Amino acid sequence: MGGDLRSVDVREALTIERVANAPDVLSSRLRTREGADLLFRPLLRADVKLLAEFLSSLSARSRTRWNLESYDIAMAREHCAAIGRYDKLRMIAVTNVNGSRKIVALMELSFSIPPSDQARFRSYGISLDETFDCRFAPCVRDEFQRTGIASELFSFIVDIARRFGKRRILLWGGVFADNIPAISFYRKQGFIEVGECTSQSSTNSFDFILTLPGAFEDEQ
Ligand SMILES: CC(C)(COP(=O)(O)OP(=O)(O)OC[C@H]1O[C@@H](n2cnc3c(N)ncnc32)[C@H](O)[C@@H]1OP(=O)(O)O)[C@@H](O)C(=O)NCCC(=O)NCCS
Repeated sequence: MGGDLRSVDVREALTIERVANAPDVLSSRLRTREGADLLFRPLLRADVKLLAEFLSSLSARSRTRWNLESYDIAMAREHCAAIGRYDKLRMIAVTNVNGSRKIVALMELSFSIPPSDQARFRSYGISLDETFDCRFAPCVRDEFQRTGIASELFSFIVDIARRFGKRRILLWGGVFADNIPAISFYRKQGFIEVGECTSQSSTNSFDFILTLPGAFEDEQ
């Protein structure tokens, strides 16, 4: 399936519908620094069980940081039913663990910017625009965390965002102030902290944004 998507020459911006109809355009194989072979590809409608297994595998700590209404087959069905509709692109990294296929990471992009995010960023002096901005959230399977997977996959995410015509990536819902691994990861990828907010659960969160390298060069 697919080649190295970093080398693909694309003249036309991708859309959610195009990816849903031809998921191979965003499928790529890579080997992690620990030697695991991964297939990084869009979530497919047939992935319900695979996704349910991943969600249910997440530890209590990962769940507090990656907040969903449930971590079961119902949520997996909802995610798979949403493919090609609405504003979300979900990418999964799949590998073989002890002879069976497992998801080791889920990375989500959203191409809509809700009014609440627009208002929050406006209060930091940043004007968001759905044409150029998208939202991002990652989750790595517990036993694979801190093995370099998110870092490896993030270069593909940057490429995907560009192929959708985006210039900036912001965090989907921000990051909890006590989520040190994620904050370190975002900083390492070049995200800049732009503000602090309080979520509905009264937890402090930070908003981060990344301007893609070279994004505004054509305007200089
Ligand atoms: C945040 C997350 C996606 C990072 O993914 P990962 O694959 O573990 O990250 P990597 O192994 O690529 O690590 C990249 C860098 O992130 C930072 N980092 C990752 N895990 C860390 C930890 N436990 N403690 C401190 N820093 C950490 C480090 O700077 C690391 O670089 P280094 O290993 O060279 O020091 C992962 O921890 C995760 O899925 N957490 C649970 C869900 C979550 O919090 N999602 C984000 C919601 S905002």
